[in-house]
Amino acid sequence: MKAAIIAAAGQLPEVRHLPDPGPPGLGQVLVAMLLAPINPADRQVITRSYAFPMSYPLILGAEGVGRVMALGPGVQGIAEGDRVLPLDRGNWCSHRLMSADRLIVIPSDVPDDQAAMLRINPATAWRLLDQARLGAGDWVIQNGANSAVARWVRLLASQRGVGVVNVARSPPAHRPDAEIWLADGPDLPTEVARALRDRPVPLAFDCVAGPATARLASCVSPDGQVVIFGHLSGEDCVLPSGLLTGRGLIVRGFSLRPAEATEAPATVAALYSRLARLACRPEAHTPVAATYPLDALSTALSTAGCGVGRVLLALDR
Ligand SMILES: NC(=O)c1ccc[n+]([C@@H]2O[C@H](COP(=O)([O-])OP(=O)(O)OC[C@H]3O[C@@H](n4cnc5c(N)ncnc54)[C@H](OP(=O)(O)O)[C@@H]3O)[C@@H](O)[C@H]2O)c1
Repeated sequence: MKAAIIAAAGQLPEVRHLPDPGPPGLGQVLVAMLLAPINPADRQVITRSYAFPMSYPLILGAEGVGRVMALGPGVQGIAEGDRVLPLDRGNWCSHRLMSADRLIVIPSDVPDDQAAMLRINPATAWRLLDQARLGAGDWVIQNGANSAVARWVRLLASQRGVGVVNVARSPPAHRPDAEIWLADGPDLPTEVARALRDRPVPLAFDCVAGPATARLASCVSPDGQVVIFGHLSGEDCVLPSGLLTGRGLIVRGFSLRPAEATEAPATVAALYSRLARLACRPEAHTPVAATYPLDALSTALSTAGCGVGRVLLALDR
C-alpha cells in the first residue's frame, strides 16, 4: 500500500510504499481509500502549528472517503462495497484497516468528492451552532466566510432560523440578496450595526485570529460570546482587555474531536446521517479546485489553500 507519511517531527511529508495491512480481524474492516481533501488542519500538521501534539511516524489526512473491501468476523451494519467515512486521522493512503465502529456508511447519492469532505467541516459547523443554543431570530457573526465551515454554518443556521453576518477579506461579487456579507476592516462594528439596524449579535465564530478577533469581538453585544476555532491568519488572537471587561464577553476555544469524544457512536452516526442528507444540496456544495494522485503530493500541497476550492488527493490511482 501507499501512504503520505511524516516519518519524524520536523521532516517533510513523503509518499512511501508500506506493507499491505492484511486481512481484517475481529470487528475490523479493510477500506480502499478513494479521495481525501487537503484541509487547513493538514497543512498545520505539516508545519507543526496544529493545536494538538502528534506522534510519529504518522500518516497524514484528517478526513477522506473509502470503499469497503473486506469485513472481519463480527462486523455488522457495513457491507462489502459500501462507501465509508473514517472517523480517525490517517486517511492519505491507499488502504486502511479500521475498527468497524470508527466508520460511517455514506449514502450512495452523496458524490465522492462531497463525501470526502463530510467528516470535519459540516460537523464543526453543526457543533458550533448546537453548543450556542441560539433560537430563531438570533444572529451570529462569522469571519472567514468564504470557507467551507462558514458555508455549512449558513446552511445549518438557516435551518434553525438563525441569521448570519458573513465577514470575509473579499466578499464574493455574486451572492444571494438575502445574505449579509461585509468586508473585514476597521469599520466592521459600524457596518454590522447598520446592516442589522442595531439588533444584537450575541455570538461570533472566529477562524482567522490575529487582529481579526478584536474586530469580530467589537461587533458582539454585551454578555455575548466569541468562539475561536481556527487561526487562518497564522497569528495568535488579539483582544483588547477593555473590550472584554466593558462588555462582559466570554471567549472560548472549540475543536471538533474533543467536542465529540464523549458521544455515543450511535449519536455520532445519527449526526453524519443528517449531514449526508444535506450534503447533496447546492448550498452545501464545496467546490473542488483540482484533484491530484497521491504521487503528486508536493504539487497538491503547494496548490492547496491558494485559491477558491479544495484540492483533493485521489488515493486509488
Ligand atoms: N477547531 C476545529 O475543530 C476546526 C474544524 C474545522 C475547521 N477548522 C478551522 O476552520 C477554518 C476554516 O476551515 P475550512 O476548511 O472551512 O477553510 P477553507 O474552506 O480552506 O477556506 C479558508 C478560507 O480562509 C480564508 N483565509 C485564508 N487566510 C486568511 C487570512 N489570513 N485572513 C482571513 N481569511 C483567510 C480564505 O478566504 P479568502 O476568500 O479571503 O481567500 C478561504 O476562504 C480553518 O482555520 C480551520 O483550521 C477548525
